[in-house]
Amino acid sequence: MRQKLVAGNWKMYGSRAMTRALVAGLAAEFADGAPCEIAVCPPFPFLEEACRAAGGTPVTVGAQDVSDRDEGAFTGQVSGAMLAEIGCRYAIVGHSERRSLNAEDDALVAAKFLAAQRHGLAPILCVGESLEEREADRTEEVVARQVRAVLAAAGIEAFARAVIAYEPIWAIGTGRTATPEQAQAVHAFIRGLLRAENANIADFVKVLYGGSVKAANAAEIFAMPDVDGGLVGGASLEVEGFASICRAAG
Ligand code: 13P
Repeated sequence: MRQKLVAGNWKMYGSRAMTRALVAGLAAEFADGAPCEIAVCPPFPFLEEACRAAGGTPVTVGAQDVSDRDEGAFTGQVSGAMLAEIGCRYAIVGHSERRSLNAEDDALVAAKFLAAQRHGLAPILCVGESLEEREADRTEEVVARQVRAVLAAAGIEAFARAVIAYEPIWAIGTGRTATPEQAQAVHAFIRGLLRAENANIADFVKVLYGGSVKAANAAEIFAMPDVDGGLVGGASLEVEGFASICRAAG
C-alpha cells in the first residue's frame, strides 16, 4: 500500500510571514498525526524558513526547481546541494510552467532529475499534455515521451527515489479538473510504462495528480487506485483548504 503524498506548489506566491504561519498552521492541524505525507514547496527565499518551521512536525519541504549543475558560474541557479543543506526533501522538476515559460526540454528536465538525486533530494517529475494534445488524442504519446526521457537518462531504479506528478496543462489554474476516470487512465498508463521495466518499482512509485485540486474534489480523485495524492497549486496557499485536501488523502 503506497502512502499518499499531498504537496503544495506555491508558485510565485507567499512571504516569510505566510510561510511561517502556514507551516505552523499545518503542524497544529496534524499535531496528533498526519493523514498522509505533507509537503510544502515555497519560493526559494522562504525555503529555509519553511524547513525551520517544519522541523519536528509531519510537514516536509520541497523546492519548485533545481539546477541541473552541481556548482559553478550559473547566475541565478540553485543547486541540489544547497537545497539539501537547508533541509529540503523534494525538488519539483519539469513543471509545465517551466517547460513552457523557461523553455525547459525533456533533456534538461532529465538532467535536473539526476541532479536532484545526486544530492539526496527526491525529484517530483511533472508530466502532462496540453489541451490541443488531448483533443488530438496524443495524451499517451506526450506523457510517454516525457517519462521515457527520464527513464533513458536515469534508469528505472532511480524511480524508487522519485515521485511523478501527472498535471494536464488544461487543468492547471483553470478550475477545470480531469475527471477521476481521466486521471486514473493516465496514471495507470504511466505506471504501465514503469511496469514494463520493473514491476516492483512500478507498484512502489507515487503518482500524484495536479490541476485544480480543491477540498471539494480531492477525495474523489484520490480514491482512484493509481492516484497517490496531489500536487496542489492555488488551494495550497491557505491552511484550512490545504488541510482538508490532506485529510481527503487519509
Ligand atoms: P492549480 O492547483 O492552481 O491548478 O495548480 C496545479 C499545479 O500546477 C501544481 O503544480
